[in-house]
Amino acid sequence: DFELVLARRGIRIPVGADQTAAQALLDHGIDIPLSCEQGVCGSCLLPVLEGIPEHRDVFLSAAERDCNRCFTPCCSRARTPSLLIDL
Ligand code: FES
Repeated sequence: DFELVLARRGIRIPVGADQTAAQALLDHGIDIPLSCEQGVCGSCLLPVLEGIPEHRDVFLSAAERDCNRCFTPCCSRARTPSLLIDL
């Protein structure tokens, strides 16, 4: 489990073990673009301001993964207790 912190909205959204980050956002009425939901297309890519994502997609390059500036909420999770997202 981890938490998404939405920097621009000032809200925290918990992501349970049984849901994706994208589902948690949608459940809270935060509309994000989604397409493949398998980490392939990059449609859902979100900017990360703080925290370390656990990248589970195949869209980002190795360099993009390593800089931890974005993540794909349809499948990726977090290595830190929370991710601060520019949303
Ligand atoms: Fe395609 Fe997330 S919806 S990578």
